[in-house]
Amino acid sequence: MSAIMSGCPRPVVFIARGVPPSGAARLREVCDVIEWEGPGRIPQDTFVERVGQCKPNAVLIHPPDRVDRQLLDSAGPQLKVVGTMSVGLDHVDLEECRRRGVAVGYTPNVLTSAVAEHAVGLILGAARKYKPGMRAIHSSVWGTRWDNALWMAGKEIGGSVVGIVGLGRIGIAVAKRLKSFDPARIIYCGSGPKDDAKQVGAEFVPFEELLKHADFVIATCSINEGNKGLFNKGVFDKMKTSSIFVNVSRGVLVNQEDLHKALTTGVIGGAALDVTSPEPLPADHPLLSLDNCLVIPHLGSATDTTRNRMCNLTVSNILAGLKGETLPSSAL
Ligand code: DGY
Repeated sequence: MSAIMSGCPRPVVFIARGVPPSGAARLREVCDVIEWEGPGRIPQDTFVERVGQCKPNAVLIHPPDRVDRQLLDSAGPQLKVVGTMSVGLDHVDLEECRRRGVAVGYTPNVLTSAVAEHAVGLILGAARKYKPGMRAIHSSVWGTRWDNALWMAGKEIGGSVVGIVGLGRIGIAVAKRLKSFDPARIIYCGSGPKDDAKQVGAEFVPFEELLKHADFVIATCSINEGNKGLFNKGVFDKMKTSSIFVNVSRGVLVNQEDLHKALTTGVIGGAALDVTSPEPLPADHPLLSLDNCLVIPHLGSATDTTRNRMCNLTVSNILAGLKGETLPSSAL
């Protein structure tokens, strides 16, 4: 590939988290790449400090690495582009980037299928009690309970009412996949009825109605200031006592103390969470000890194919931003 800007020094890119080697290699062809060497995720303070030292022209991040005023101040005015390997943008201060003329690229579409498949896995995992089932094997309880035909009896998606909170790209993809299980109804709520809902025969209902009728309440919405903590005591109280709550959105959508209470007092039946607050969730967090709460470490888009696609799109966004071109997938 030719130089990004002829006659200019090679741009500097700071990569805040390990990316597939092919993505880093594409950047290295034309940029000086500095990668966070780990271990683990870069602490936010270190991220701020490191961009202050290396003065990058681009940063490549994953949630929850934050790009906020402090990070942008530290990085300096030569920063041209932020590439996040995510569809979620709650960790990027978009207004501030826009104000400073920093382009922001993100990765919608390429991860929709992987996240939707994962959501189906979470639903089945919670509904069919995979977590207590595995525990029963590991603790040798299995053999002692087989006399009871209802041991570990779970719930079926077939014949159930599936409720989707936020029928965007991922919500539709989840609904399409769940339709093959023959649910009695698929209902959804959000800012208003969506044309795409017709593809899956989903009915638009008010939020309260969804809570009242859904056997599975699946959050696929994006996060905004208005829905942080949406799933709290008041909301869990309105759900069926047998219902299963599934979250592939963001952890901050949920008041986790209220969720814990709801799960331990029979207010709802179970939960499966791909996302928590904070991430990582401390290993001694009370939700982790519950048999009716399946927690997965934010793996929605974590397949080889999808992570490579996300990385390639992010690299394309960054290279375009460095050249001052329109980003293939701009968040602004
Ligand atoms: C996203 O893309 O926002 C995912 O949650 C990150 O894997």
